[in-house]
Amino acid sequence: MNPEDDVCLCFHVSQQKLTNFIKREQPKVASKLSECLGAGTGCHWCVPYLELMWEQWEKGETPQLNFSPEEYAAQRSEYHRSGKRAPDWPPAEESDGS
Ligand code: FES
Repeated sequence: MNPEDDVCLCFHVSQQKLTNFIKREQPKVASKLSECLGAGTGCHWCVPYLELMWEQWEKGETPQLNFSPEEYAAQRSEYHRSGKRAPDWPPAEESDGS
């Protein structure tokens, strides 16, 4: 995803907005990201990815979701259709060694 791509598609909250919120507010728990324009409080699709961004920041990394926005949106559509998350998505990433 690029910084301007939406992580929360319900409320159009971009990766950059979330990253700025995390840096500014330094939330102690991932659920606090809901205070960033309501992220995660709609269909709940994005909640695991909000948690991932928060976990990355907790580890001292820059929050970054490494999937295409098109695939992300397609997976969300399937989640809405079926009510389930695909167990094999996103595919496991190789560690960058850091
Ligand atoms: S995509 Fe974030 S709550 Fe629906």
